[in-house]
Amino acid sequence: MEDIPLLDLRAELQALRPELQQAFDEVLEGTAFILGPNVGRFEAEAADYLGAAHAIGVNSGTDALVLALRAAGVGPGDEVVTTPFTFFATAESVSVLGATPVFVDIDPVSFNLDLDQAEAAITPRTKAIVPVHLFGNPVDMDHVTELAAAHSVVVIEDVAQAFGAEWKGRRVGGFGVAGAFSFFPSKNLGALGDGGLIATEDPEAARLLRMLRAHGSTQKYRNEILGYNSRLDELQAAFLRVKLRHVEDFNEGRRRVAASYNAALDGIDGVVLPTETPGGRHVFHQYTVRITGPAAGRRDAVAQALEDAGIGRAVYYPVPVHRLPVYADAPRPQPTLPYAEAAADEVLSLPIWPTMPDTAVDRVADVLRRALLG
Ligand SMILES: Cc1ncc(COP(=O)(O)O)c(C=O)c1O
Repeated sequence: MEDIPLLDLRAELQALRPELQQAFDEVLEGTAFILGPNVGRFEAEAADYLGAAHAIGVNSGTDALVLALRAAGVGPGDEVVTTPFTFFATAESVSVLGATPVFVDIDPVSFNLDLDQAEAAITPRTKAIVPVHLFGNPVDMDHVTELAAAHSVVVIEDVAQAFGAEWKGRRVGGFGVAGAFSFFPSKNLGALGDGGLIATEDPEAARLLRMLRAHGSTQKYRNEILGYNSRLDELQAAFLRVKLRHVEDFNEGRRRVAASYNAALDGIDGVVLPTETPGGRHVFHQYTVRITGPAAGRRDAVAQALEDAGIGRAVYYPVPVHRLPVYADAPRPQPTLPYAEAAADEVLSLPIWPTMPDTAVDRVADVLRRALLG
């Protein structure tokens, strides 16, 4: 039997190969490799898709966060409230600017930031709150917007895993002062290398972000502020324009696979299925279950059974960010965050990609069921 990868990128790229090849040839022909025409066109097309006034292409999702935070004025002495159950870059971007990430616990059902705890953690030093739409499942953005307004803090959405996800019919990434997207190849909209994007409604922020990504200048050799070299690569922009035309189909495909998993895994004791935040549209960047209850403590054994059967699987994330070595010596001791810590021990992400066949879903479900019975 053929192995089932965690993500079959080959299948996706094979179908798009003629379009990608043509995009490559056009860039080669044009030789405008830095901030050429594809970057501007992709920004306009992405802004249109997202319903955002401005979109600024940068070289990674991490830089999208760093630049968005900097444009919002986050710096030394500031606190930024965020989730510990995310990829490190969410907090790293705060820390590299000299600000302090303040971690609060997650909601154990959605894995997203617990917004009541986020509100309780706001102090006079809090500058921003960074919700992460983890695994493609939207955060309740009405609640975030309300609490941010009540306490005069800015919202920067980490939308790295949620391109095309929606909150009440509006695509996420446009609810705060900025939304930071990643085009890491495995993302729902993935480049063929690194890439990122910042969406914003604010023309002043857009102007500043364009300066920041290009050495703090709008005009060559007239650098006005300290910035970065963080431009979205022209070739990646050309590839992303191709993939953007298909992203809705990809997201629908992922939702279909998730529904198949929900049916195939229903009723297995010890497996908690992912849910969609009511009011949101989940785009299933990951399909992540929890191995818990009567199966508590058996996550790694289940993961091993999948591996033995040639099935890809991953643990996102094995260590919550507040427990990473980088924060061990932080001046303020890290809190105990029971739900985030339990999630790290219980989560298991199963294979998912837009065209994953139901036969593969059934095989994964079978191995999982047998591992839990055994
Ligand atoms: C939640 C989250 N934030 C930020 C990032 C950083 O994005 P990138 O890898 O493009 O720098 C990622 C992905 O890698 C992510 O999953």
